[in-house]
Amino acid sequence: MLSLLRLVPAVVILCGGPAALARDGRPESGRALAQANCARCHAIGRTGSSPLAAAPPFRAIHQRYPVEQLAEALAEGIETGHAVMPEFQLGQTQIADLVAYLKTLER
Ligand code: HEC
Repeated sequence: MLSLLRLVPAVVILCGGPAALARDGRPESGRALAQANCARCHAIGRTGSSPLAAAPPFRAIHQRYPVEQLAEALAEGIETGHAVMPEFQLGQTQIADLVAYLKTLER
């Protein structure tokens, strides 16, 4: 029983929850990723409105929920509630970068 309890943190680290995903993100790469994949619909910078009015500006996303939660959604291919938005399959590194970039918009 004791050894099982000790295993739990290791499993959590290995599986990498959203927090783990966000740890090593590089905001610059995240911004480039957003520019290439998201900017035709979303406003991705600190100013400006989205090219597609229905798409929320990225700087507003953190007002809805912690951007770390996005890591999970993105890993599964963000789909829920995205009728218009294409489904993306991003790698863990790309997700971490993107989340790191979104965090820079909170300040
Ligand atoms: C073809 C247009 C389009 C592209 C490209 C696009 N989105 Fe979206 N996105 C939307 C629209 C429209 C909405 C809001 C309506 C909806 O939720 O269906 C949205 C909503 C979102 C939301 C908010 C979800 C919520 O629950 O509040 C997030 C986060 C998001 N997009 C992330 C991204 C990311 C990251 C990319 C690039 C990898 C991206 N989007 C690319 C159209 C797009």
